[in-house]
Amino acid sequence: MAESMKGLKRTHRCAQLSAADIGGTATIMGWVQKNRNKGGLVFVDVRDRSGIIQVVFEEGRCAAALIEKAASLRAEYVVAVVGKVEKRSGAVNENIATGEIEIVPEELRILSESETPPFPIEENSKTKEELRLKYRYLDIRRPDMQRNLMMRSKAATLTRKFLDEEGFLEIETPILIGSTPEGARDYLVPSRVHQGYFYALPQSPQIFKQLLMCAGCDRYFQIAKCFRDEDLRSDRQPEFTQIDMELSFVDVDDVIDVNERLLARLFKEILGVEVPLPIQRMTWQEAMDRYGSDKPDVRFGMELTDVTDAVKDCEFAVFKGAIENGGSVRGINAKGQGAMPRKKIDKLVDLAKTYGAKGLAYIAIQEDGSVKSSFAKFMKEEEICALIRAMDGEDGDLLLFAADQDKVVWDVLGALRLELARQLSLLDKNEYKFLWITEFPLLEWSEEQGRFVAMHHPFTMPMEEDLPYIDSDPGRVRAKAYDITLNGQEIGGGSVRIFDPEIQSKMFEILGFTKEQAQEQFGFLLTAFKYGVPPHAGLAYGLDRLAMLMAKEDSIRDVIAFPKIKDASDLMTEAPTKVDPKQLEELGLMIRDEED
Ligand code: AMO
Ligand code: AMP
Repeated sequence: MAESMKGLKRTHRCAQLSAADIGGTATIMGWVQKNRNKGGLVFVDVRDRSGIIQVVFEEGRCAAALIEKAASLRAEYVVAVVGKVEKRSGAVNENIATGEIEIVPEELRILSESETPPFPIEENSKTKEELRLKYRYLDIRRPDMQRNLMMRSKAATLTRKFLDEEGFLEIETPILIGSTPEGARDYLVPSRVHQGYFYALPQSPQIFKQLLMCAGCDRYFQIAKCFRDEDLRSDRQPEFTQIDMELSFVDVDDVIDVNERLLARLFKEILGVEVPLPIQRMTWQEAMDRYGSDKPDVRFGMELTDVTDAVKDCEFAVFKGAIENGGSVRGINAKGQGAMPRKKIDKLVDLAKTYGAKGLAYIAIQEDGSVKSSFAKFMKEEEICALIRAMDGEDGDLLLFAADQDKVVWDVLGALRLELARQLSLLDKNEYKFLWITEFPLLEWSEEQGRFVAMHHPFTMPMEEDLPYIDSDPGRVRAKAYDITLNGQEIGGGSVRIFDPEIQSKMFEILGFTKEQAQEQFGFLLTAFKYGVPPHAGLAYGLDRLAMLMAKEDSIRDVIAFPKIKDASDLMTEAPTKVDPKQLEELGLMIRDEED
């Protein structure tokens, strides 16, 4: 039977108590971590979100009835303890913050009992994630999850404080809206009142924040829920949170400046980490050429080398063919890996193939200077020597080459570089390397759609010096777009916006919208631009990704209270679920039979 907490008031969280409280009385409330019964002596560890404190039930120091009651406690019972804070009679426990003290109880109440939990509530749980997510409320009781959520909360609070000081207004934008073009699939919500019509959930507040600039709000921010129906990964959820902002009368440098100071503040106050400012900037082209990625991890080197020139006259069909087709041959040098066993190299080849490579060519330089290579037999000896020189290859190095269209070569080598860094333990989670990527291409050719698509979104301003090519060679136009990356993750992105209705219309035209379609989908924005629109720019962070990196976790699921799994379902509530036929009827919807 649950006892009442009537008459009791909690005075401290468990781990708020310290040696300074010795001699005082405290009332704590929390969960039983464990009890150890040594016959007449019962140690009970009580846990709340702050940590653990030991309560000692000992003959002579507390009433016998209390000892008996303590012996009946089981893991995860919820208890209230009133008692004296004393110096530990036994050895100090260095592992917990309250290790020097203990509570000697005067009163113990069992507020709630617990069945045996399906997994132990402890740090570094080895429990399978599916089980953790099914009982997420138990999982969140674990200290690592508590720490992650507290850290995330602090990041959100500090962000609010900082942006308020910088003159930003926090403004909410609607969740039930028309479609926003961020490139992913929309989540749709059927309208009951307008049958056959749908709201879309926002992929981001993009259009609304631009309208707020038209509305004279000057600086806006929001910690905004966004929804994207796309394939999930460890850094992607169907609903996620952005720190979203927009500023009027600014250009690229202004957005970067405010955001660098925000990041420096967050990392200093939450992690005690100094972020040296200004943060390094790199153009998209340079990032691709050097790292094969638009979000390069610059905690380690192993940069790409373009060897197209060095091999352009060779007879090796793979290299020759790629170059003739307008592609390139590039390589990376895995220093000191020349002795890598064939099996392991084959694994790298398999990985390369998952990134679109038709193969991966290698030269393994042995310690005695001899070479093992998958393609040396197709080349003259001096050509191999020239290639090794071009790669700065030394005895004991492993050189890996990809030959294809640039995009494939970059993807393949970018991925191999990361895989090798993982294998060689080059990635230190305590090191934080920020990098801005700037001057993204405005457009990207989509084979699938047979047209250009916006690389960021259709409201991004082309670089002024590239405007002359917008009709003749749109693929060459760069954008005033920027991403902020951290340790190889894109944590945020944004751009200067188009505020000239003519350029905006041109952009829609390039993206394949007819005038009517553009008017139908974005007419209100184009109209707003006719009534005096300030130059504006903005950026949005993925708060989940930022929190994940701060918490040194590998998945954003570990910093989201109730995340979804790969198939976008929720293991705890079992959403999505079927609905009552009556609800469907009200919405004018019918579910088609599988066979139809
Ligand atoms: P973008 O689409 O780059 O830009 O998104 C901004 C940031 O949001 C995070 N993010 C995600 N996080 C978790 N799960 C997802 N599915 C997911 N998708 C994106 C990333 C990304 O950098 N409106 C523009 C911003 C702007 O131009 O101001 C936008 O949404 O960290
Ligand atoms: P093959 O001519 O198919 O026997 O290939 C010879 C070597 O070149 C093998 O090691 C292949 O894995 C490698 N190779 C094949 N295609 C490519 C490519 N596009 N880029 C780099 N290496 C490749």
